[in-house]
Amino acid sequence: KKLGIFVSGGGSNFRAIYDATINELIHGDVSVLVTDKASCGGAEYARDKGIPVLLFPKSKSCPEGLSSMDLINALRAFEVDFLLLAGYLKLIPIELVQAYPKSILNIHPSLLPAFGGKGFYGMKVHKGVIASGARYSGPTVHFVDEHYDTGLILAQKVVPVLANDTPEQLAARVLQEEHKVYVEAVAALCDDRIVWRVDGVPLIRSKE
Ligand code: GRF
Repeated sequence: KKLGIFVSGGGSNFRAIYDATINELIHGDVSVLVTDKASCGGAEYARDKGIPVLLFPKSKSCPEGLSSMDLINALRAFEVDFLLLAGYLKLIPIELVQAYPKSILNIHPSLLPAFGGKGFYGMKVHKGVIASGARYSGPTVHFVDEHYDTGLILAQKVVPVLANDTPEQLAARVLQEEHKVYVEAVAALCDDRIVWRVDGVPLIRSKE
């Protein structure tokens, strides 16, 4: 399967997925990287590996960026099957959601539906978790709809919140598990091991 990855930052989830394609834990290839930040760590890493980088979206600060239609056409030209958001901070426009039904995943660093939505990104998520007194947090992989963090949940992992955690310490503990759960979810997606329960909830079928 062909994967398109979206990043805005350091891209450690992108690298975990890329490595898993090389090690054949994921039966797929990273065909293209999409970013709103031309010089972010993830984009630099992609260029280093010879992966084409597309700028999206077009904006005042990024006039060379692609429009939604141009991006969809480019992704089709690369024959991309699945889109994986990995620390991409912009909202995915509805045209893109409709062009890739049941084919876009995101990773979020909290146990959704808690601590998700527009205000919860980056360290704000972990600050919110600590301030709430929650004893557990952890990453969520979910399908993407046209809102922030509301699509159907595919996979989660539980991570303890320790009594004296700083947001940075909690973020680092969650990030380690993000890499594992995202690789597992993408491996299932590429192997066609996602089953849709009658009520519409997606589940991962384990390998035989
Ligand atoms: C991760 O915590 C992810 O859950 C969130 O943004 C962060 C991206 O980290 N959506 P990285 O760029 O993959 O290192």
